[in-house]
Amino acid sequence: MKKHNILLIHPTIQPNGVSYLEEHSNVFLAPNGDTQTLIQWMNEHSIEGVLTRCEYIGKEIMDAVPTLKVIGQHGVGLDNIDVKEATAHNIQVLNVPDANYISVAEHTMMFLLALSRSLRINDTSVRADSWYSRENRYTMELLDKTLLIVGLGRIGKAVAKLAQAFSMRVLSYDNYVPQSAMEALGIQKVDVLEEGLSQTDFVTLHVPLTKETQGMMSTPQFEAMKNTAYLINMGRGPVVDEDALVAALQQGQLAGAGLDVLNVEPPAADHPLFQMDQVIFTPHIGGDTREAKYRTSEILSRTVLEALDGKSPYNWVNRS
Ligand SMILES: NC(=O)c1ccc[n+]([C@@H]2O[C@H](COP(=O)([O-])OP(=O)(O)OC[C@H]3O[C@@H](n4cnc5c(N)ncnc54)[C@H](O)[C@@H]3O)[C@@H](O)[C@H]2O)c1
Repeated sequence: MKKHNILLIHPTIQPNGVSYLEEHSNVFLAPNGDTQTLIQWMNEHSIEGVLTRCEYIGKEIMDAVPTLKVIGQHGVGLDNIDVKEATAHNIQVLNVPDANYISVAEHTMMFLLALSRSLRINDTSVRADSWYSRENRYTMELLDKTLLIVGLGRIGKAVAKLAQAFSMRVLSYDNYVPQSAMEALGIQKVDVLEEGLSQTDFVTLHVPLTKETQGMMSTPQFEAMKNTAYLINMGRGPVVDEDALVAALQQGQLAGAGLDVLNVEPPAADHPLFQMDQVIFTPHIGGDTREAKYRTSEILSRTVLEALDGKSPYNWVNRS
């Protein structure tokens, strides 16, 4: 069988995926994801398949690289790939929808627990020899609290299950999931986002970044929240209007936030949210456990080669 030419981009996928690709194809490694660099590497090596994680693969690359047939996304979110253009260029786009949703759901629960128990503030007080500051701080149980899940897909459903194990009441806002499907999972559907926000103790975001979801959490939504409630963003940074979030936190419209994703990643060192003790961060690693990365790498490398061999892998997202 013909060996295909595959481009990886530094920093790249896990070694198990790289080894698999090296066994079955000719593998090249671009030093970074800059568009001109990618075009140059792709044309120099007649690249047929490229694996990306967050590097942007758009029209400019597709127009400039006639050999490109398959784009593999190392994860679920496809906002860094122009899928419409890829379809117009007859390029197959693959993602890995089912390898890291448990990791993201567990990370969400970590934020729920860390926020409800003021983990960051308590940790800081112990280190600062301020043990007895605990007397002025009351943390909160999750039992019987309400969680609003925005986006009830693979991740949202897994979060619901974990939250229900903590005896939380679960609501969800997702225009595409019918009430009957939610009820079957013991979840109450809300049709208007602000109505759900006004009832909830925690809101967690698990929608993809689209024109519809960009900025869906902004001033009116923060105004609708209880001032004791917390926001968690595990989707994509721009789903939250960050300026509005800063203002809402300053005005005490919500109690705090747990953010795995930000508008600009990595963020500027003087980001105003860094001034706020009630906000905790992780560097977009919700899906990045050892287990999930290994699975993602394995699935993506195998299915990119399947696509190049003319097969029809299960994760082909722009299949006609
Ligand atoms: N933080 C991380 O490390 C990490 C890892 C994986 C995925 N993600 C993000 O999480 C997102 C969700 O992943 P998933 O696997 O659950 O995807 P999914 O496609 O299974 O679910 C997304 C859900 O969002 C809903 N939705 C879409 N537009 C909506 C809108 N305007 N209002 C309400 N609901 C809407 C859909 O109906 C769907 O049920 C991904 O697109 C990605 O951006 C983040």
